[in-house]
Amino acid sequence: MQAEKIKTLLASTKFNQVFTVQGWVKTFRANRFIALNDGSTINNLQCVVAFENLEEALLKRITTGAALQLKGALVESQGGGQQVELQVNEIEVLGDSDPEKYPIQPKKHSLEFLREKAHLRVRTTTFSAVMRVRSALSFAVHQFFQEEGFYYINTPIITGSDAEGAGEMFRVTTLDPKTPPLDEAGNPDYKKDFFGKETNLTVSGQLEAEAYALGLGEVYTFGPTFRAENSNTTRHLAEFWMIEPEMAFYDLSDNMNLAEKFITTVLKNVLERCEEDLQFLDQRLAKEDQSKPQNERSTMGLIEKIKFVINNDFKRISYTEAFDILRNSQPNRKKKFKFPVNEWGVDLQSEHERFLVEKHFKCPVILFDYPANIKAFYMRRNEDEKTVRAMDILFPGIGEIVGGSQREERLDVLEQRIKEMNIDAEELWWYLDLRRFGSVPHSGFGLGFERLVQFTTGMNNIRDVIPFPRTPQNASF
Ligand code: 4AD
Ligand code: MG
Repeated sequence: MQAEKIKTLLASTKFNQVFTVQGWVKTFRANRFIALNDGSTINNLQCVVAFENLEEALLKRITTGAALQLKGALVESQGGGQQVELQVNEIEVLGDSDPEKYPIQPKKHSLEFLREKAHLRVRTTTFSAVMRVRSALSFAVHQFFQEEGFYYINTPIITGSDAEGAGEMFRVTTLDPKTPPLDEAGNPDYKKDFFGKETNLTVSGQLEAEAYALGLGEVYTFGPTFRAENSNTTRHLAEFWMIEPEMAFYDLSDNMNLAEKFITTVLKNVLERCEEDLQFLDQRLAKEDQSKPQNERSTMGLIEKIKFVINNDFKRISYTEAFDILRNSQPNRKKKFKFPVNEWGVDLQSEHERFLVEKHFKCPVILFDYPANIKAFYMRRNEDEKTVRAMDILFPGIGEIVGGSQREERLDVLEQRIKEMNIDAEELWWYLDLRRFGSVPHSGFGLGFERLVQFTTGMNNIRDVIPFPRTPQNASF
């Protein structure tokens, strides 16, 4: 049975024509008014039971959460609040629900409570809005790169290399953990493992993307990424989605230009396509803000903030400039930072990033030319020999949303760096080959998709912008 989408009906003027709809009951009032939602829009369709003598047995089955198929004529709404309604004269219960046990009641639930019910939370207005925006963002990402002439490539999920050199990887093995075969030294013998070597879930598709950029020119990946870092924060997931463009013949400033254009284009696109959902999320955030102390409230609404990012250039400053600003800042002098900023070369913490973005510049910031010793091995060394051509994009309320760099294309410099950092060069033989055969300057970056969804939807916790979050001690569903 092909039912009409509620979104289509709500915009329709085909009055007195008969339609069938299918969806879930949000509320049922006065034994007469069913608010039905099918996920196609944030708005419910008001369905009015148009016949008398609704059987008692059927009446009882129309409860919040039940799935119904309704048939009736579309009419101009009598009541306020909606343009159209359905005058129902046929009701079929497709799936009963137990009103006593159904956890999603028509009232406000805390986000924490809903995380425990992640399999049902998409039936709430908030989560359905977030997931529609997520889907639109995802499409906009592909649209942007496809229109720019980039090729979408799929990099492996199982890898033997640690792209970020951070060692925070999930092991992939088929060896029996209780009785693994042992080598001569008594360690598990991974030669006998499925791949004949140690393998992990990827932390980034970058290295493989580089190989493809050096042949296809401009490529991007958009795939799942895994990090076993034990960070229980509102911005970290153990499994997240990353978008990684990689471009031959780009230097760092080309890279920054692309990243800025990419983010603003995608936001513009979604602002147009998800107007109703974003308006709802904007109001949701405003309400949430009301319950906060005055000094913690945001100065801009959600849509206002998105427009601000679209319409204003990102501020570009070097690490060294940022370091000076931070060192002389009031919170640093008054020892308000948990991590004081006194010595050039310190890694910037989230509190520092947020100070720069939210207090000092009050706009997105691109920080570049970081000290080499706090960044990954593959970043191109600057002439000063102390800094590398890295760039991070910092966003209000989010902190780091993008990390990228110009890559080291010089074989000798790269080899030296790998040695200095005690990285297994053997594993990277193919990556070094790229510097042996037709090496050219190239650049790329990675954008954490969930952080972009967080920014766009105003959801404070990253666990609330991915359908089934994976975090330390949590892999339910
Ligand atoms: O800065 P990162 O670690 O950079 C890379 O992985 C590079 N290989 C990217 C590249 O140049 N191709 O990660 C990139 C972005 C971060 O800026 C952040 O937005 C996101 O990925 N990210 C996470 N998002 C959610 N949970 C986590 N645990 C994340 N770790 C990084
Ligand atoms: Mg980073």
